Amino acid sequence: QFIEWNAAMAEKAGYKHFMLKEIYEQPQAITNTLSGRINAETGEVSIPELNLQGADFDKIDRIFLVACGTSWHAALVAKYWIEKYANIPVDVDIASEFRYRHLLINERVMTIAISQSGETADTLAGIRIAKKMGSKVVTICNVVGSTMTRESDGTVYTHAGPEIGVASTKAFTAQLAALFLFTIYVAQQKKTISKEKGVELGRALIGISSVIEKELPRIQDQISRLIESFYDARDFLFVGRGLSFPIALEGALKLKEISYIHAEGYASGELKHGPIALIDKDMPILALVPQDDVYQKSISNVEEIKARLGRLILIGTEGDTHLQNITDDIIYMPNVHEDMNPIMYTIPAQLLSYEIATRRGCDVDQPRNLAKSVTVE
Ligand code: G6P
Repeated sequence: QFIEWNAAMAEKAGYKHFMLKEIYEQPQAITNTLSGRINAETGEVSIPELNLQGADFDKIDRIFLVACGTSWHAALVAKYWIEKYANIPVDVDIASEFRYRHLLINERVMTIAISQSGETADTLAGIRIAKKMGSKVVTICNVVGSTMTRESDGTVYTHAGPEIGVASTKAFTAQLAALFLFTIYVAQQKKTISKEKGVELGRALIGISSVIEKELPRIQDQISRLIESFYDARDFLFVGRGLSFPIALEGALKLKEISYIHAEGYASGELKHGPIALIDKDMPILALVPQDDVYQKSISNVEEIKARLGRLILIGTEGDTHLQNITDDIIYMPNVHEDMNPIMYTIPAQLLSYEIATRRGCDVDQPRNLAKSVTVE
């Protein structure tokens, strides 16, 4: 049931850059990743290539998520989901740290590598060490037959298709879809969620593709106009709380990768512990403020930024008129299931980076000093 890709499909198909094409391919990439794995009626998930079911999960006390770069941000989102629904404690580690740490791993720990390529040297070394220590090893991967998938006990493939742009886009949202799928699967196997919850989560996941597909052109259009007053910035902050925090990190990474603007992502609640000192009338800050369970907290953080005259861009929920009291620069997102916000809010973060970088004349598909896959240490 693997999807075959040929050279013609890997061309730019009328888009100016591979990155933009791949941004627009995200609804399809997510749909392909979910295809045949989830029943919309019953919410039931099956992931045969994972090679783990039922009682296997009773033997797992803890999960390590190990990854680099953008894939590490997917891991940070997954921690929230897995802990909330599957009730298993999750540690997230950057692979280059994980592999040289004194690890407390045994056969009751599951190690999950997240990697688009399945070849990243540090992540591969990480799973080899974990396996030696007795851990079950699973890889979430986009490349069928890659080294990591061959060395793992189980795999969850993302079916995003080949990603040519060096800065990862569709592979990331496909990883998020696969990780949410994995979360529902584990929660169902461990019976930590009700049948109804399974249906609710499954439907939310299946539904996100069509929402993104519908909204993409509008979001790009609004962002391309908005960036006229931001593209020449020297620095940029991205902030978010809860599920939006890793997306703030991913937005900042995307911007620095392709536009060479110095950008940092922060958990909104951390601003007061340092970064707020940077804020003045010249500092643009993109804040992710969906109406989720930490919305009120996020808004008070944003108001603190406003009081210091920061130039705010808000990405929030459609119909949230309160945001208009804070700034004129708002991009509204449709009101999707709370757990789908990380996927939804990734779209404007990617497009902001893309629009700013192309406006600055940067080569977005092949940014300087970066490689698509880092197979050496
Ligand atoms: C490189 C790429 C990034 C990617 C990272 C991890 O740095 O430029 O886009 O996120 O490697 O790659 P992986 O294939 O393991 O996901």
